[in-house]
Amino acid sequence: MIGVSGGIAAYKICYLVRYFVRNGAEVRIIMTPSAVNFVSPVTLSALSRNEVIINMFPPADKVSSSEKVETKTWHVNLGLWADVFIIAPATANTLAKINAGISDNFLLTTVLASRCPVFLAPAMDDDMIKNSVTVRNLKSLSASGFKMIEPEYGELASGLVGEGRMAEPERIFEIIKDFLLRTGDLTGRKILVTAGPTAENLDRVRFITNSSTGKMGFAIAEAASDRGAAVTLITGPVNLDTPEGVKRIDVRTADEMFRKVKSNCSKKDLIVMTAAVEDFVPVKTDKGKIKKEEKEKFVFEFRRAVDILEYLGKKKNGYKLIGFALETDDEIENAKKKLKRKNLDMIVSNNPDSEGSGFGTETNKVSFITERKTEQLPLMSKYDVGNAILDRYLKMK
Ligand code: CTP
Repeated sequence: MIGVSGGIAAYKICYLVRYFVRNGAEVRIIMTPSAVNFVSPVTLSALSRNEVIINMFPPADKVSSSEKVETKTWHVNLGLWADVFIIAPATANTLAKINAGISDNFLLTTVLASRCPVFLAPAMDDDMIKNSVTVRNLKSLSASGFKMIEPEYGELASGLVGEGRMAEPERIFEIIKDFLLRTGDLTGRKILVTAGPTAENLDRVRFITNSSTGKMGFAIAEAASDRGAAVTLITGPVNLDTPEGVKRIDVRTADEMFRKVKSNCSKKDLIVMTAAVEDFVPVKTDKGKIKKEEKEKFVFEFRRAVDILEYLGKKKNGYKLIGFALETDDEIENAKKKLKRKNLDMIVSNNPDSEGSGFGTETNKVSFITERKTEQLPLMSKYDVGNAILDRYLKMK
């Protein structure tokens, strides 16, 4: 499904539609009312071989009684029907409205009702794309799971040269094709990712755990799957949907995670440990509920849990190994020590006290540390951090 908003680049959508139709895709097009000033709905309808939808409410005389039900809920039906929704061009206005959850035209309503991945191909003038409001909107949209098709540098409709030129239709087509066919630069690679916290039972009803929400690990798994990898995701208790195409294995305790990692680590090309595995686990778990009677205080005995990453570092047979380090003090120094001690190819360090980082956030500010160099990255969405990790992996020897 393609959503066209009102920008000069709208004329290029004719080419995009042709690429899709030629390759056997069924294409439905939605236009914002202002988009019709830039490209004719008749042209897009002929190219897509389907009616183009513009108005929120079709004129009553055009709706036959049998069509009525379907047409009234078109935004929902289309949102469910599509495998992917591409908004191109996505103007500053449409991006801002999507970010705010506004649904005052058919395109915006369908975005809200969509269950499929939504790709945004921004197109606007150089000053508009650099405006801090647009920058903020784009950041927040990618943190909410919208996928960006980055604009290019080049000649703009205003006559200026700069950022904000919509990605060429051919590039948009390739990105979507790779996404739908799950072929990309990681096709053929097998990747294991761990995520989330572990939870250790103290008795039948009580447990200890930590604040990890699993978002970072899920974002890496999603990015790797989007790029064509076969991804296995072993996760502790989290409240997140499984990314498309990812094989998910749920565990609860550190011991269970260790067992599942051991049985799933062979023949992997890359293992990324983002899980916040509990370092100490109870020596014994009470089968019932511990009663408070006759106890003013009591002591629990804990033992060290297996360090899964260290185990993987010792075993290393054919895979690259990336770990995470959560450090509140001397971040880089401590992370470097972990890199060495655990025999890693790279460690990603993050500080939960840094703004926009830490548990439950949609963004993260990380550093990549290898034996040779330390790289500090800006604040990014966790999905983009995932892609950056995968980019570094592809460059590893
Ligand atoms: N890790 C692991 N098994 C554990 C503990 C940690 O595999 N039992 C992994 C984490 O997934 C992470 C890395 O080790 O990739 C570093 O975790 P972190 O909590 O930062 O460090 P620790 O090694 O636990 O050391 P410390 O808590 O003393 O900082």
